[in-house]
Amino acid sequence: MYSDVDCTPNETSDDNRKMKKLLLFGATGNLGKEVAKTAKQQGYDLTVVVRNKSKTGQLTSITDRFIVADITKRNQLTDICNGFDIVISTLGKSVSPNETSRQSFNDIDLIANSNILEEAKKSGVKKFVYVSAFHCEKYLHLEYFRVHHEFSERLKASGVNYSIIKPPAMFSAFLDMIEMAKRGLLSNIGKGDKRTNPIYEGDLANECVNSIKDDNVTKEIGGRSIYTRRQLNKIIQEEVCPEKNVKNIPLWLFKFSLPVLKVIKKNMYDKFAFFAAVMQEDTIAPQVGQMKFEDYIKMKRKI
Ligand SMILES: NC(=O)c1ccc[n+]([C@@H]2O[C@H](COP(=O)([O-])OP(=O)(O)OC[C@H]3O[C@@H](n4cnc5c(N)ncnc54)[C@H](OP(=O)(O)O)[C@@H]3O)[C@@H](O)[C@H]2O)c1
Repeated sequence: MYSDVDCTPNETSDDNRKMKKLLLFGATGNLGKEVAKTAKQQGYDLTVVVRNKSKTGQLTSITDRFIVADITKRNQLTDICNGFDIVISTLGKSVSPNETSRQSFNDIDLIANSNILEEAKKSGVKKFVYVSAFHCEKYLHLEYFRVHHEFSERLKASGVNYSIIKPPAMFSAFLDMIEMAKRGLLSNIGKGDKRTNPIYEGDLANECVNSIKDDNVTKEIGGRSIYTRRQLNKIIQEEVCPEKNVKNIPLWLFKFSLPVLKVIKKNMYDKFAFFAAVMQEDTIAPQVGQMKFEDYIKMKRKI
């Protein structure tokens, strides 16, 4: 069973009574936190699901109530969507190499999200917003993309009204590199000449919440500016520690370790195989976001 933790309710007003009830999964993540803020600003009645109470942290001032549940346990999700109009899932296994949990992309991104979808359907949820990955359908041999694509297909076939949002990288995916830049470990892999337009998670959150009003849509959404991988590294290095240089690692050397990694550490292999693939091709989505990467890195460096 899951436990329900009520926060101090807002004053009841006519507007509050008209609010649509929204259940958010993945609220403690980089994107989820922004979705929670945006949903609240737009007047939704927000409940978030967290895996333990210690994770509620900054969210206590934003959300109306919490549900504590382990999304990997099917029985803890029973009836979890009852009474909600909208479900948003920004739930997914992190791509950060610093995240080393035993669960796989399949366990979280596909199975857990499918369990949530099943519950949403059973409870008559009117809208399901899911954050997938840009061009996932083109890389089905890579686990990270396969699971995002497969869940998107399940959602489309479910009969529940959906919005599927497909970003390339979010700015937050580069936060690990700030630490690497400080230690002089930031590296270009290969030529670093392939281009992409990552998006600020706050801009993406707006798109997720605004898309609640859309009917059965799939939206590819990127940031306003296009950069080569080398330019992104340079921006980080110059902002964080200009006295150190970005290193260069040949692509063949990076890929050399993959077959061994696949045998000894499959979850880590899935992350590095994903990085190797996206660094070899241009990944440019429609330019929607507003914040510039340079400004984001400046902002994060000060935090
Ligand atoms: N990051 C990117 O550049 C990028 C690009 C394209 C698409 N996406 C997709 O966008 C979505 C959100 O990404 P993000 O960067 O915001 O992810 P994130 O920061 O890693 O957050 C993931 C969320 O999922 C939760 N989660 C992960 N494993 C869990 C588990 N075993 N049990 C319970 N909760 C678990 C996390 O909870 P905890 O806080 O408790 O760990 C967190 O709330 C993901 O589906 C991701 O694949 C991301």
